[in-house]
Amino acid sequence: MIKLLFFIDSDKVVNLLESWHFFSYDLGSLNVDEYLECDVKPVRLAILGLGTVGGGALKLLKENAAEIKRRTGREIQITHVGTRRPRPDLELPASVKQSADLMSIVRQPDVDVVVEVMGGIHPAYDVIMEAIKHGKQIVTANKALLAEHGNELFKAADDHKVQIAYEAAVAGGIPIIKVMREGLAANRIDWLAGIINGTGNFILTEMREKGRAFADVLKEAQELGYAEADPTFDVEGIDAAHKLTLLASIAFGIPLQFDKVFTEGISKITAQDVKYAEDLGFRIKHLGIARRAAKGIELRVHPTLIPEDQLIANVNGVKNAVLVQANAVGPTLYYGAGAGAGPTASAVIADVVDIVRDISYTEDGAGTIPQLAFEALTDLPILSREEMTTGYYIRINAEDQTGVLADVTTILSRAGISIDAIMQQPRLKDLIPIVILTDPVVESKMDEALAQIQALPVIHGEIVRIRLESLDN
Ligand code: HSE
Repeated sequence: MIKLLFFIDSDKVVNLLESWHFFSYDLGSLNVDEYLECDVKPVRLAILGLGTVGGGALKLLKENAAEIKRRTGREIQITHVGTRRPRPDLELPASVKQSADLMSIVRQPDVDVVVEVMGGIHPAYDVIMEAIKHGKQIVTANKALLAEHGNELFKAADDHKVQIAYEAAVAGGIPIIKVMREGLAANRIDWLAGIINGTGNFILTEMREKGRAFADVLKEAQELGYAEADPTFDVEGIDAAHKLTLLASIAFGIPLQFDKVFTEGISKITAQDVKYAEDLGFRIKHLGIARRAAKGIELRVHPTLIPEDQLIANVNGVKNAVLVQANAVGPTLYYGAGAGAGPTASAVIADVVDIVRDISYTEDGAGTIPQLAFEALTDLPILSREEMTTGYYIRINAEDQTGVLADVTTILSRAGISIDAIMQQPRLKDLIPIVILTDPVVESKMDEALAQIQALPVIHGEIVRIRLESLDN
């Protein structure tokens, strides 16, 4: 007798056996009924939060149900929705249980995957912890929660052999987490620079293209549904710092360290500087930068001059883009919608699909890719702002007197700062704006030089300093 061991898709086993009429088969101790039942059992979701992203996820699951089933081979069934504000417009089937008691939902036996799309730290942290303890797989779009508490949450997930998938937490619909954790896994990543807050990019774009005022554009971004509940998260760079924290960990294999990100917002950027930068061939973008330097890692979010011929300088409106410099592949750029119902739901449901595949094909469902991309994290130091190195755009308002320019350039040269370009602008309100671009310099040196320039009696108002990156290799 020939013994065959089948370890393939169960439908195929049955089809195959049925088509091989000339074989008699004895399944011995293999319990096919049980196997089939386990294989076809739907994966059951609880969706927590019915805002823009939750609504988008439900819509996408419904619209693309057939396509998603073809990809996973399993039915995805929503069993629970957690919300305080039910949405009749979403026409959920009567079988979906709706409740505001999130803790109770995540303990239910008819939930395999918890999709958290409420945002905010509380109650999301406690609810996700509870879900992990009950062995649920997690999908979340919550960048603030992961950036600030991800180390504890990932540890708990590892201990309970479940995954926390978070593609939607960074750059919305752009699959940047998958790219960095999987697609670039053969590389050492040297640096990445991203436009990772759509609202901030929309504001800077409208200011540059239409000369619109900051507050007016922010209001429009809020109406479009892109801005955070607290818009200072967008304009002061906190949202971008949350996302950068996640990107840096999976780029360099370091723990999440949101508190060490140097963060500067765009609220002080004026139309005047946007124009002067443009005259010099640059665009001002609000970038999140993570760079491997000789002594550690630079983590910084700030307005940055970048050459206008860089592709990323031409990413406009609410769009996001991430430029990654990796040692084997070189620079690669990822562009797309960073917010909104459809793009964010696309990332959320892609994570659900990954988890469904893992549940189906691995023993414990814990997934095959480490949560933060590396099996072993290292404690590379994160550099302080003073230790970081960057180029500079400096704007000084000076009295129109002989020797002013010489005094300024002497201070820069004594500090060892190399000037790349210098431009004297037409007089404004009795003062002469002087714009200087410098080559990269350690920030502590620039601090000293600017303090000396600021102290010159002919200098009026606060010196404007905007960092500058050429973003070449
Ligand atoms: N407020 C964020 C943005 C939403 O403007 O990019 C997406 O994370």
